[in-house]
This record gives sequence, structure tokens and C-alpha cells, in this order.
Amino acid sequence: MATPELIPVATQAEPTSVFLRACLGLPAQRTPVWLMRQAGRYMPEYRALRKRYGMLELIRTPELAAEVTLQPIEAFGLDAAIIFSDILPPLVGMGLDLDFVGGVGPHIANRIERAYDVDMLGTPPAEETMAGTLEAIRIVSRELGPRGVPVIGFCGAPFTLASYAIEGGATKEFARTKAFMLSEPAAWHRLMSRLVTVQVDYLKAQVAAGASTLQVFDSWAGKALRQSDYVRYVQPYNARLFEAVKGTGVPVINFSLGVSSYIEDAVACGGDVIGVDWQLPLRSSWARIGHDRPVQGNLDPTALLAPWRELKVRIDEVLDDAAGRPGHIFNVGHGVLQTTPLDSVRRLVDYVGERTTQRVPA
Ligand code: CP3
Repeated sequence: MATPELIPVATQAEPTSVFLRACLGLPAQRTPVWLMRQAGRYMPEYRALRKRYGMLELIRTPELAAEVTLQPIEAFGLDAAIIFSDILPPLVGMGLDLDFVGGVGPHIANRIERAYDVDMLGTPPAEETMAGTLEAIRIVSRELGPRGVPVIGFCGAPFTLASYAIEGGATKEFARTKAFMLSEPAAWHRLMSRLVTVQVDYLKAQVAAGASTLQVFDSWAGKALRQSDYVRYVQPYNARLFEAVKGTGVPVINFSLGVSSYIEDAVACGGDVIGVDWQLPLRSSWARIGHDRPVQGNLDPTALLAPWRELKVRIDEVLDDAAGRPGHIFNVGHGVLQTTPLDSVRRLVDYVGERTTQRVPA
């Protein structure tokens, strides 16, 4: 069978995908919708696979990663597919010993403790270290290209990755990370620079493999840092990262969680689309971001645990706040939770489609 020709959706000046149109700020037939962490543990198909395979095994086996990526697309008809992986596997290629421990989450056995450890980190090319994910992107793009569904590649932002590398796992206080940042500023600079180098190469490789959008997840900088520290220790590196991937020709989404008190500083880092978290109404965030910049968000993911009548009210709030402006991508304001009922996701996707299609004249 002949391989269907890939439609270079991202390079079209006027793409037909509702998601890509919104990313470019163009009017679309309806508001596109996808959900952060849409592939994962709330789906029985995913849990069934996880019984048979370890997390890193799933990520590294292209056919399996492709299958997990497609699960929510087949189940709910979302407008974009985020490739199934995690933000942390690129750290393995740098020399960190990562594992996903059941019930605990990510764990790094040889965490960074001193400046010397930073200098031991390598910066090998993604083609070598993330080959499984790049192949999964090729498979998913071949499958979804003809169906007009774009594939989103992603990476973690340097602070979020540095926090796992230094803490060795999840943290509430970021005490080790901030102590390192403040006591070893030169090593912090080298660590952040190396992380940027590796992520930029990885993002470019994902585009070469077929990703037609990129998202950068900065999950923890906004939670961990006061504004002045964000500006000093994070912003320059995020800015460098966004600048370096400008030339790829695909839209880049900047999702920075917890920055609502200084969102202007996060926006100044760059990105074509700003991913807005759930804390403030979309109306006020978008006004601060500027209506000329497309936004993605921002339903509180816990709303998906509420009965439909309450969930609908909250979906309506987001859509009312977006006011039918071009350049809105409907999403949650942080990842979908494990206890999310499938039916809530289904109703959300259908409702956003129905409500917004009615409002836009054909
Ligand atoms: O649909 C998708 O988005 C799937 C791809 C994806 C995963 N993680 C799969 C995953 C993506 C984009 C991520 C991003 C990620 N990973 C972030 C940034 C987004 C955010 O939520 O803030 C962060 C901080 C991580 C780190 C991480 N990975 C943690 C803290 C955990 C454990 C807790 C949790 O959220 O599940 C993971 C594990 C992980 N990553 C799972 C999945 C499906 C669960 C693994 C399992 O099956 O046991």
C-alpha cells in the first residue's frame, strides 16, 4: 500500500485545521479543543497497556507510544494529538537516571547535588537519545496527516526540568532547587544553558519528524519563584529557548503554570500562543496578554469531576470570556486528572463544538 502523502499542514499560510488556524489567530469554523494530559491514566485503554508495560518502555516503543497518542483522538475526536511521552526522558540522555515509580511519580537516582554534577551532564542529539519518540511522531503524523489532525510535540522548560534534576523527584517547596540557584549561580547558569541546548535540539527534531505545533511546559517556575527571581533566573533561558525555535515554522505554545501574578513576564519570554492556567478568568488573562496573541485554556481540570450542569456553567464561562474572538483554543488550565470520567470529556468536546459552530457563520 502506498504511504499517504503527508500534508505539510504547518507550512500552509492558511491551514484548514481549526487548531492550527486558532494558533495563527485566524478565524476558524469552531473553537478547537484538546486537553493537556489527554493521553493517560483516566483512560481504560491506557491503564490496560500500563499493566503490561513500564512507563519508559511505553514511551520508548514507537508503536505503543503512537497507540497511546491516538487513544483519546479515537475516543473523543479532539482537534490535536499530543505525542505520548513525558517531559523528563530527555534528562536520561544527559546522564540522569530516571524512573517512574508506581504511586510516587518520577524519581532520579543520581540527582544534581553540586556544581560538579552539572559539568558531568551531556548534551547528545535528540536523534540519538529520543529516537523512539521521534519515530512515534512519524507514525502518528502518517496516520493523522490525511485526517487533518495536527501532532503536538513538546518539551519541559528549563526551570521545571532543573527542579526534577535537583530535587530527584516531585517537591512542594522547591527548597533544594532554590538553594542551588541562590548558592551556585554560575552552575545554575550552566545547568539552564545545557537544558536549553538539549530542549531546542529536541523540539527541532520533533518538527523534522512531523510535529506541526510545539508546546513548552513550564509547570513549576511560577509556583516556586517570586517575580524578581523569575525575571533573573528563568526568563532569559525561556526567552532563549523560544527565540531558538522561531525558525521552525510551526506555532509554539508557551504554557507557564502559576504565573498569573506576573503573567506579563512569562509572556515576554515568547511563544506564538500563550497557554493560560485555570486560576484567573480567561477574560482578564487575555486582556493582560493582549488580544493580538492567541491563547489556550483555561477550564479548571477539577471541573471535569463535577456534575454536567456545573461543568457546563464553567465551560460557558471560558467561552464567554473568549467572546468568539479568533485565536482561542479550548483546553484545561492544567492536566486532566486521573479520576476524570470519560463521559465528562466526551460531553465537553461535543458541547464546545456545538456551541461554537452555531456562533460562527459558515
Ligand atoms: O496526553 C499527554 O499529555 C501525555 C504526555 C505527557 C505525560 N506527561 C504523560 C505522563 C505530557 C505532556 C506530560 C507532561 C509532564 N510530565 C509535565 C508537565 C505538565 C504538567 O502536568 O504540569 C510534568 C510536570 C511531568 C512530570 C510527571 N510525569 C509527573 C509529576 C508524573 C507523575 C504524576 C502524574 O501526573 O501522573 C509523571 C508521570 C506521567 N506522565 C504519567 C503520564 C501518562 C503517568 C504514568 C503512569 O502511567 O504511571
